[in-house]
Amino acid sequence: MRHDHLITSKQLSRADIETVLDRAAEIADDPAAVADRHANAVLGLLFFEPSTRTKMSFETAMKRLGGSVVDMGSVESSSVKKGETLADTVRVIEGYADALVLRHPKQGAAAMASEFVDVPLLNAGDGAGHHPTQTMLDLYTIRENAGLDDLTIGIMGDLKYGRTVHSLAYALTNFDTHQHFISPESLQLPREVVYDLHQQDDTQIREHEALESVLSSLDVLYVTRIQRERFPDENEYQKVAGEYQIDLETLEEASDDLTIMHPLPRVDEIAPEIDETEHAAYFEQAHNGVPVRMALLDLLLAGGESDE
Ligand code: NCD
Repeated sequence: MRHDHLITSKQLSRADIETVLDRAAEIADDPAAVADRHANAVLGLLFFEPSTRTKMSFETAMKRLGGSVVDMGSVESSSVKKGETLADTVRVIEGYADALVLRHPKQGAAAMASEFVDVPLLNAGDGAGHHPTQTMLDLYTIRENAGLDDLTIGIMGDLKYGRTVHSLAYALTNFDTHQHFISPESLQLPREVVYDLHQQDDTQIREHEALESVLSSLDVLYVTRIQRERFPDENEYQKVAGEYQIDLETLEEASDDLTIMHPLPRVDEIAPEIDETEHAAYFEQAHNGVPVRMALLDLLLAGGESDE
């Protein structure tokens, strides 16, 4: 992978994805081999929106590579509160860190911020836009459980505002996939995403309002949370809240090999009774965030060193 920013999954080729996933698999097999690899590296964390998994797994990843992190902390306790622009904030923290991780409520924020810095900037979620590092761990989990080619995947829930969905759908076009999108009409994929997906040769897509019609054909069901915080109107959220939940009864028609994924946090989309079944891969998926982010950081940081 080039020494570069990671802003959307659209920029990733199949070769890029395979390089990261292969490296992540090596690291997962033998984490001790890379324990000092980036001993002096510092990762800057800039989270303008809540995060548990993404932030903590980036922090764990950097520490397990021997490095450390500097964290802007909450917006409330930072100079953002005094009116500092995003461009100024990233330019300052670039001076403290070898790479930056940015999460921001505004779509396009990571692309904009990346124009102001020379160190690699990783988009950890920009509003309803993209979340490419989540996609990498999603792809890793899919590869481990179902394989990435000849894959039939159902992606269900909030496809309009769900940034993990947008990034995953684009990245999967590098493989031979059938993608089924299941959502209420008001939360369908943005039309420009549907248009882009239709242009891809090895990708077949269909949109549905009911899971039942496709469930039995799926290798993977990727469930998402309705993104309440992105709705301009709470009444609109209430109209769709609680739809598209799955429990053991829902899964009666599913294949025994169905893998169920979720980027987490879940609210009520997946009944806890599913957690103990062979289908559930969402906690494994969250844990995969560490080796995958270690691989990404290793490749991005190593790319900047002339002796590598
Ligand atoms: C997701 C996000 O922030 O987009 N969470 C995550 O990073 N695992 C999904 C979500 O918030 O629903």
